[in-house]
Parts: sequence; structure tokens; C-alpha cells
Amino acid sequence: MTIGIALSKGRILEETAPLLARVGIRPKDHPERTRKLVVETERPGVRLIIVRASDAPTYVQYGAADLGIAGKDVLREHGGTGLYQPLDLGIAACRMMVAVRKDFDYEAAVRQGARLRIATKYVQVTREHFAAKGVHVDPIRLYGSMELAPLVGLADAIVDLVSTGNTLRANNLVPVEEIMPVSARLIVNQAALKMKRAQLQPLIEAFGEAARRAR
Ligand code: ATP
Ligand code: PRP
Repeated sequence: MTIGIALSKGRILEETAPLLARVGIRPKDHPERTRKLVVETERPGVRLIIVRASDAPTYVQYGAADLGIAGKDVLREHGGTGLYQPLDLGIAACRMMVAVRKDFDYEAAVRQGARLRIATKYVQVTREHFAAKGVHVDPIRLYGSMELAPLVGLADAIVDLVSTGNTLRANNLVPVEEIMPVSARLIVNQAALKMKRAQLQPLIEAFGEAARRAR
């Protein structure tokens, strides 16, 4: 039985590559450079499936991949149905934050019960976060460059990931609230874990050991 691992190009793949090497998974094509979406590995019966970061939980949920690596941001937005999340890999670490223009009085707007327009990729997480605080929001779904929205009057605030803070600073935005710390998790299809336990369990343990050694 072949094992498929869903990985996204960019940050996740860059930071996962050393873990994969420690686990003994060597791709036959360079995953960042190849145009192939299914990449075979030197390890018999293990292949990589190259997906968009936000699609990784969906491939694993439906069993199109047995394992995957996804940020907690993407997992919270997806909901986690059908997924087992055994390991925090400690990579791609950042924070999900609310940010506003420097000249926007966020505390006052919240105090006055204003209805906030919030631009984000994370509509579901945004709804849940503000509903729990009793703050009314209108999420505006964007697919990237959220930082632009408050600058051109599309939104009062954004919910986005912050790491160094450079992107916020470059755009005269300030973080005003943390929603959650984010890092990448190993995800496993729940049914596959039962059906292919003999192959998956050693791989999961090897990822755990590799992540511990990387810390
Ligand atoms: P998609 O292709 O689905 O739109 P994307 O282009 O946002 O995704 P990346 O920017 O590579 O993909 O982000 C992938 C994951 O890396 C995110 O889901 C998050 O968990 C993590 N991440 C994103 N930005 C940062 C950052 N600045 N610092 C650390 N980790 C980050
Ligand atoms: C992420 C995030 C922010 C930026 C924050 O974008 O969406 O824009 O990183 O990082 P910083 O605090 O270190 O500046 P990314 O670079 O992944 O680009 P994207 O717009 O393609 O998601």
C-alpha cells in the first residue's frame, strides 16, 4: 500500500525538507523546482503530493493523502473533520493577529460596539473569535495581501499571520490583538491510521523524533 504525504510548496516545504531527510524520505525530483504534482521518493511506497497550503487538510480528510503537513491557521479554518493531529512539528511558527492602521482607535471602536469590517483569509476563525468576545464583525474574504485592505478603505482591520512584523510595519499597520500562536502540524487521515497502521505508525514516530531533534 502506497503512503501519500500532502505538502505545500514555499514555507512548509522549505521548513519540512530537513525533517523529511531525517525521517529518511528523499524526493526523486526537487519538490520546489519540479512541475510534477506527485513526486516519488527513494523510500519504496512513499510519495509526496504537492498541494496549495490551504488545501492540505482537504486532501488528507478525504484520504487522497494519508499524511500531510498544515499550519494551525489552515487547520482551524478547515475545522479538522476526519483528521488526527498527533504532532506539533514546531516549524513555520508565527502568530495570527488582528491589525489596524496606526491612526485607527481599535479599543474605542470595540468599546462603542461599532461593526468592524475585517479583511482576511480566515473568515471562519475571525467569526468565531469575535463572536466569543461579543463584537460584531463583517468578514471580507481575501486570498492574499490582506495588509492592503485597511490602506485603501476596504476594511477597518485585518486578521493575518505575523512573524517578524516587517509586513505590518512597512504598511503602517499595528497589531492590536493575538488570536492564536501558529505552527505546522502533522495531520493523518483517521481511517488510514486504522487501515495502514503498520506503515503509518513508524512514520509518525519518525516525524516526532525528527521534530524533537530539530528543537
Ligand atoms: P495558499 O497557497 O494556500 O494561499 P500561502 O501562499 O499563504 O497559501 P504560505 O505563505 O507558504 O502559503 O504559507 C503556508 C503556511 O505557512 C501558512 O498556512 C502558515 O501556517 C505558515 N506561515 C505563513 N506565513 C508565515 C510567516 N510569516 N511566518 C511563519 N509561518 C508562516
Ligand atoms: C505571510 C503573512 C504576512 C507575512 C507576515 O505572508 O500573510 O503577509 O507573511 O510575515 P512578517 O511578519 O515576517 O512580515 P507570506 O510571506 O507567506 O506571503 P503570502 O501573501 O503569499 O501569504
